[in-house]
Amino acid sequence: MSKKFFITTPIYYVNSVPHIGHAYTTIALDILARYKRQKGLDVHFLTGTDEHGANIEKSACAQGVTPKEWTDNVSAQYKEMWKALNISYDDFIRTTDAKHEHVVQAIFEKLLKQGDIYKGSYSGNYCLSCEQYYDESEMLEGGLCPVHKRPLTEVHEETYFFKLSKYQDALLKFYADHPDFLSPKYRANEIINFVKGGLRDLSVTRTKVKWGVPVVSDPAHTVYVWFDALINYVSATGLGTLLCEDKAEHEEQLKKIGAQSFEDFWPANLHMVGKEIFRFHSVIWPAMLMALGLPLPTKVFAHGWWTVEGEKMSKTLGNVVNPVELADKYGVDPVRAFLFREVPFGQDGDFSMQSFKNRYNSDLANNIGNLLSRTLNMAAKNVGYLPAEAAAQSATHKRALEVEKAIDGHYDELAFDKVLENIYGFAGELNKLVDEKKPWELAKTDKEAAAAVLLELVCGLRFIAQWIAPFMPGIAQEMQRRLAPGKIEKYAPLFPRLEDK
Ligand code: MSP
Repeated sequence: MSKKFFITTPIYYVNSVPHIGHAYTTIALDILARYKRQKGLDVHFLTGTDEHGANIEKSACAQGVTPKEWTDNVSAQYKEMWKALNISYDDFIRTTDAKHEHVVQAIFEKLLKQGDIYKGSYSGNYCLSCEQYYDESEMLEGGLCPVHKRPLTEVHEETYFFKLSKYQDALLKFYADHPDFLSPKYRANEIINFVKGGLRDLSVTRTKVKWGVPVVSDPAHTVYVWFDALINYVSATGLGTLLCEDKAEHEEQLKKIGAQSFEDFWPANLHMVGKEIFRFHSVIWPAMLMALGLPLPTKVFAHGWWTVEGEKMSKTLGNVVNPVELADKYGVDPVRAFLFREVPFGQDGDFSMQSFKNRYNSDLANNIGNLLSRTLNMAAKNVGYLPAEAAAQSATHKRALEVEKAIDGHYDELAFDKVLENIYGFAGELNKLVDEKKPWELAKTDKEAAAAVLLELVCGLRFIAQWIAPFMPGIAQEMQRRLAPGKIEKYAPLFPRLEDK
């Protein structure tokens, strides 16, 4: 079996309800997965939920249910959300899956045995929300968490450490030798400087947190939630068959996900993450892989954050945007496309209903939607029947191939905004062609010339339908149906215009 194109989202915490920020990471990866499948690659798209830790225990307790009941419930909500957003994932891992817990335990014991994990004690300032210690230089004035701006908790505990410091030079060498490993570049530089500043060993167990994976050789400790979570990328894809005693269970799992061995997946081609968890994926995780003697992923990409009408999304502010509600109202595809046209992928962005409506009208209703309906209406009158191959030698066809090349280049950079810009730009060019050639007038004097223009437009639209498929799979399918060879029918607008109210 050949190596799969293996791509991952972070696994989502189950301590709050999923919102548009979470959907953003996953839709980004879904777009890439669909594009790569179009190109014929054997994609394996992994997502899941991160279910251990003190926060989750607290959320469950606050709801009066057991952590297991709580995690089952929220994990199911994520699955529902992915269904509603048309996410084509291939596998869904939960860190409470036995197959995952066994791999975490096996990795821990292996690293302990080889001396990459050792026992010590720790005191420091901990953020319960980030599940992370911050040192003096990182905290904000008044001892606040730099992410949550809330007071850090002073924690003293006996703990096991992972020898992160040992990998400092190896990491720096790896970054230097693989300039495309961390992306975008402006975020990569921050990481490199952080590592150059010196790495400290990482506390990887807790004695106070009960809702976690117990350390086999010292069950008073549970494994630190990030150490546990990062391992999902390899536990979901069969590392267990190499590490764990219970091989049968892991072999069964491999069969289920259509593979024979761990090497069919690993190394991952891409870890897609948000900027606030870039460091975990570009420093700690690579060091863990080095300690395990496993190759590093090809790329880690960190995207930016969404605010809503200028504010951070929060339950307290009551401004959390639920992508499923939005999709129910406006259609899932326009929501998916909006998120990736509005903001250059990698940078932060702001969500507002006004910008959503503006883009919907200008990019979809007035541009692509209008092009499709005017072309099909005119073609119904003047051509009557669509051939399988339309205008294959035309200038439009040639131009489409150029645009396609540009699009492929933008996908290589994960510049989803530029992909859409090219698609919408091409639709704009075709609309201009209609305005200039005026096929409805041309038809009065030269029916053949008018038909030729219309077939060029059909040719262009067929390209568009194919290009938008990763972003708007449902709409693309409907466009393809309308543009299929055969008799032309009458259709309702693909994107009914949204009024301003
Ligand atoms: N559980 C960890 C990840 C472990 S991966 C081994 C975690 N989970 S999370 O649920 O908090 O976040 C998951 C993803 O959602 C991150 O990529 C994060 O950037 C994204 N987003 C959450 N809120 C967001 C916005 N407001 N805007 C954009 N994305 C943000 O971290």
